[in-house]
Amino acid sequence: MRFEFTEEQLAVRDAARDFAQNELKPGVIERDEKQQFPAEQIKKMGELGFLGMMTDPAYGGSGLDTISYVLAMEEISKVDASASVVMSVNNSLVCWGLEKYGTEAQKQKYLVPLAKGEIIGAFCLSEPEAGSDATSQRTTAVDKGDHYLLNGTKNWITNGGSASVYLVMAQTTPELKHKGINALIVEKGMEGFTVGPKENKMGIRASDTHSLMFSDVKVPKENRIGDEGFGFKFAMSTLNGGRIGIAAQALGIASGAYELALSYAKERKAFGKAIAEHQAIQFKLADMATEIDAARLLCLQAAVLKDQKKPFSKESAMAKLFASKVAMQVTTEAVQVHGGYGYVKEYHVERLMRDAKITQIYEGTSEIQKIVISREILD
Ligand code: CAA
Ligand code: FAD
Repeated sequence: MRFEFTEEQLAVRDAARDFAQNELKPGVIERDEKQQFPAEQIKKMGELGFLGMMTDPAYGGSGLDTISYVLAMEEISKVDASASVVMSVNNSLVCWGLEKYGTEAQKQKYLVPLAKGEIIGAFCLSEPEAGSDATSQRTTAVDKGDHYLLNGTKNWITNGGSASVYLVMAQTTPELKHKGINALIVEKGMEGFTVGPKENKMGIRASDTHSLMFSDVKVPKENRIGDEGFGFKFAMSTLNGGRIGIAAQALGIASGAYELALSYAKERKAFGKAIAEHQAIQFKLADMATEIDAARLLCLQAAVLKDQKKPFSKESAMAKLFASKVAMQVTTEAVQVHGGYGYVKEYHVERLMRDAKITQIYEGTSEIQKIVISREILD
């Protein structure tokens, strides 16, 4: 398989690179330290079309393909993985899910402002007792005729405090197990909906992760996505694409750390020469470059299949599994190449190493990706 990017794809990549270097890099260390959500930067990303990249322009999006999305995610994640997770959730979980499965009225009301980046969205599947085991939803959506009565708690929700629209999975008919789950559109401000405090995290600290509590929240029937009982399929189908976004995030974290390590290795001198002239450092750089290329090819393979409307759930799981491992390996080695300087904040690689870890956990842990891959292989 040979990838030749189109001029449009390269222009998107360059625009994302410029934005990351000029708008995200200044202040990224401070936002990480202070756990400060990049609100201003996210607003600009919306204006530039980065929050609804794959959405049809008829619904306020940029109408780009998944390859462009991967290229942009890589560039943004090289610099600021907190900003890129906002981008990933809004694009591939919220906008994509609404565009694919929403009604025309839902699209007009919610998708248009989300794709334009005027508001941002959240995807709410995980619960205190249902993370990997996502079919065990405890949140309930009891059918009350013209509305559902929503009760329960979601946790770890990205954009939890800053979103305006939440796609919430909840159980309506427990005896049907996962086929009783519905996906509901919940608006911030609905009576009975409260947002818990922001989580104090190891990495992606500027992103906004919260628990959400629902107590007798009345959600109109017209806010259900898809048919009755479609909610779990909705979540899984949406996550297949979401995992390409997180794979590209992991790729970006790795390639950002690699680029820093490469330039540092050329500058830093030890034993009378640049450390890049020591073979031990050269081999580290060679391993990093090889792993990053392999991760990028897996991301692009999944993106191409998705764009061609072919099955891609195995390939997106493979891309996420592999790229997240590469992100951990490369960022750890990038700190090593920097020596003591790598251990302090101003050289950026310690943050990238902390940010890398989450890519092995969210949107399905590495163990869950192996379950998805092995089931498809054995099927
Ligand atoms: N694509 C499409 N359908 C899928 C699917 C996939 N990748 N995985 C499962 N399904 C379908 C199955 O086909 C099945 O449907 P049928 O009954 O119609 O055949 C149904 O879902 C149930 O699947 P299983 O019987 O395989 O259920 P299971 O309980 O054994 O395992 C699981 C399911 C794959 C482990 C699933 O629970 C899972 O993916 N867990 C991880 C949850 C996750 O990824 N959470 C991410 C939250 S969002 C997030 O994290 C965002 C963020 O950080 C930024
Ligand atoms: P558990 O499911 O309890 O897993 C614990 C360990 O057991 C893991 O290593 C897991 O791989 C392993 N394990 C579990 N089952 C198996 C098995 N069958 N075989 C082998 N190993 C297994 N969720 C959302 O819905 N929306 C979000 O926006 C969101 N954002 C997040 C942001 C952050 C910063 C974090 C930390 C999480 C976020 N999540 C979100 C939740 C995330 O998707 C879950 O944390 C993840 O799916 C794992 O669930 P868990 O934490 O309950 O771990």
